[in-house]
Amino acid sequence: MRVFYQKSELNASKNKILAKSIGLVPTMGALHKGHIMLVKRALEDNELVLVSIFINPTQFDNPEDLKNYPKNFESDLQKLKKLKGNIWVYAPKASDLYSEPITAKLFYFGSLESTMEGANRKDHFQGVATIVQKLFEVLEPTSAYFGEKDFQQLKIVIALVNQEKIPVKIIPCPIIRHSDGLAMSSRNKLLNPKHRAMAPIIYETLQKASALKEKHSPVQIESWVIDFFELHPEFELEYFTIADAESLQKTSILNGTKNRAFIAVKLGHVRLIDNVKF
Ligand code: PAJ
Repeated sequence: MRVFYQKSELNASKNKILAKSIGLVPTMGALHKGHIMLVKRALEDNELVLVSIFINPTQFDNPEDLKNYPKNFESDLQKLKKLKGNIWVYAPKASDLYSEPITAKLFYFGSLESTMEGANRKDHFQGVATIVQKLFEVLEPTSAYFGEKDFQQLKIVIALVNQEKIPVKIIPCPIIRHSDGLAMSSRNKLLNPKHRAMAPIIYETLQKASALKEKHSPVQIESWVIDFFELHPEFELEYFTIADAESLQKTSILNGTKNRAFIAVKLGHVRLIDNVKF
């Protein structure tokens, strides 16, 4: 495994080896098994795997959230070192990717970004698209791996690649969960023990909601979820949405397997998201 802090060094080395397939796994670090699964998948498919570790400031709408985002660089490197294969880590400072002042580029993703995470986190996807485009342009991967944990982000990245005609294949990967069902997330480390013990309720609720779909409409199921969280005031429900898995627009009629249910809740100060096929 090699570690690079500057794109110029990484590209100089990359130009020497002429890898035919390069898989990129973009991350913000604090790596867990969800990230490691993406890296393993990329190792299966590619001669060289690049893992970027960069906490991207332009996708945070809240300075406290950015400040508190978990960081664990040494342990991240240890986890990656244990994997067999050709892994290069790119861990730049902001100045390697952004000029001053650090700002997001403007994109138009229409209704894909006006709902759920886009509606609740101002300019979040402008920041995500800005950094993902920069990483694609700088590192020139042949494929890039994204988790369905951030399903809306995955759809935005696909739209970005189409709009900007970036020659990279986007590979979606399934959500990895703890044994109690909680979706793995770097933010889980920020939960206090009481909230960590309660957090599996999020996925349980998604599953219970899914079981209601045989006999109830999306509107009825949404009301059931809202009522459920009113009875559990430790959770602050931001949204529960049953949407079309392609357009991400709220759906009032369930059309076979093309739907997905999305949820965002706050437990204390920690904001968690999850989603399931519906
Ligand atoms: P981060 O939250 O570190 O996630 C990096 C990648 O890991 C994303 O594609 C995310 O969907 C995936 N991932 C996280 N938890 C997962 C889980 N439990 N199962 C499967 N995949 C999971 O997402 C970002 O970083 C950033 O927005 C980034 C794309 C790096 C741009 O800054």
